[in-house]
Amino acid sequence: MAGSDGIEKLIRYNLAGFTGYSASTSPDTLAGKVDVPLDNIIKINAYENPYGCSPKVLKAVTDNPRFNIYPDDGQQELRKLLAGYAGVGAERIVVGHGSNSLIDLIVRLFVEPGDEVINCVPTFDIYRFSTEICGGTMVNLIRDDNFAIDVQEVKTAISDKTKLIFLATPNNPTGNVVPRQDIVEIIETGAPVVVDEAYYEFSGETVVPLASRYQNLMVLRSFSKWAGLAGLRVGYGVFPSRIADYLMAIKIPHNVSVAAEIAVRASLADLDYLQGRVKDIVTERERLFGELKKLSWLKPYPSQANFVYCEVLKGSADELYKKLQKKGILVRYFDKLLLKNSIRISVGKPEHTDALIRALRELKD
Ligand SMILES: Cc1ncc(COP(=O)(O)O)c(C=O)c1O
Repeated sequence: MAGSDGIEKLIRYNLAGFTGYSASTSPDTLAGKVDVPLDNIIKINAYENPYGCSPKVLKAVTDNPRFNIYPDDGQQELRKLLAGYAGVGAERIVVGHGSNSLIDLIVRLFVEPGDEVINCVPTFDIYRFSTEICGGTMVNLIRDDNFAIDVQEVKTAISDKTKLIFLATPNNPTGNVVPRQDIVEIIETGAPVVVDEAYYEFSGETVVPLASRYQNLMVLRSFSKWAGLAGLRVGYGVFPSRIADYLMAIKIPHNVSVAAEIAVRASLADLDYLQGRVKDIVTERERLFGELKKLSWLKPYPSQANFVYCEVLKGSADELYKKLQKKGILVRYFDKLLLKNSIRISVGKPEHTDALIRALRELKD
């Protein structure tokens, strides 16, 4: 084994300069840095559900006596339950440890060094993360000023090397959807398309009903946001059954925990409750957007997800982020090429919106 100096010679050459995914700040890292107790921090930086999961999930998980037993590697019950929810056959469903892990699995199935993956930036960074780890090359197409994609440009970018096209709808961090007609036009090229619907329950728009018509369409969903299970890690995908078979074959064994399995079952048995919370979040999203719009120095973008992306027109987003943090309010801030001087605010409860707007007014008065 070489010493630490020689490690770059041993690891895969394409990972030596690899830039990882930059996750949002956890309140635990703020001890001593903010003016409020950690328990009072308003965490609206990571599109989490402010209402938590269904109370029935909590009860079902704590009542389970069998955490010593491995989960079913074949995901039989889960696949059936999720097939019922999504309205497709169970043979098309694959469940993952969060939908992130399914993005990674899909990329591992399709992408070899030298292959290309088409991406419409700015977007969710995990598409790049997983592709680069596999040695693939991102073909980044820049969205327009309102973050819409250019279908013609996507079609022109498809080459012999194209292995996947990623389309997040609603997109993270900008919150806008890709119109269904645009998605269909891209699918009809025949190239493998991954439509990431992690925020589907907030937008109400889905292409899952098209899944049986196209052998190149894969649709991903998450339980992190609408069902409040971000901490338990559950996502699923709807795939052509041949692709589902391959994904089931290459996934890590027992990739969804028993607790997550129980949580999915209890969530789907309590849909009225969860859909009620989704409605509350959508109502609050519109109120948050309206309140942000009243501030002349912010430019919020309309969102179909559970967050609002905002350009900071006056002053620095970084400073704003730090000042809000000092007041115990955590938002996400960006200052990079395609996400200049901006913040992304997850939709919280009404009292979180009130506290945020109060703080924003105080900071700029
Ligand atoms: C577009 C998009 N896809 C997938 C994910 C991953 O969600 P999960 O928590 O299911 O891994 C996220 C959020 O983190 C996202 O924004």
